[in-house]
Amino acid sequence: MNILVLHGPNLNLLGLREPEIYGSTTLAEIDAMVKKEAEFLGCQADCFQSNHEGYLLDAIHAAPGQYQGIVINAGAYTHTSLALRDGLAGVGLPVVEVHLSNLYKREAFRHHSYIAPIALGQISGFGSESYRLGLRALVHHLGRDNH
Ligand code: DQA
Repeated sequence: MNILVLHGPNLNLLGLREPEIYGSTTLAEIDAMVKKEAEFLGCQADCFQSNHEGYLLDAIHAAPGQYQGIVINAGAYTHTSLALRDGLAGVGLPVVEVHLSNLYKREAFRHHSYIAPIALGQISGFGSESYRLGLRALVHHLGRDNH
């Protein structure tokens, strides 16, 4: 089982970026943790970050056939991108939405997600642990599908 983990804009700055909100873990450390967790769960995870909506969309379009599901932290595109939502809905793979911070404790403009209505679920507010929880939730869901 292969899982695609997508990171949206500015997440390459993790570690430096507003550490009081996002923590001090770098994206490379998150990717390493995700891969280790995937191994533990008996699957493989590939991670991809882009600051460009189109590149994220290209990765989503290329996912069917290679991946059984997607974990995505779309960063600020969560709140703006109908294109990412339509792309995710279009390829039809199960999606888990993750966020480091708790969106609902923050500014009102972060309370709306274009992705949430087409996702299996959303995990928000557990820092880098949100990715591990998201991966576990997706793998659990895919395992249920196989039985
Ligand atoms: C974020 C929350 C978004 O509102 C923000 O734009 C991000 C990061 C998070 O992981 O908490 O870039 O997705």
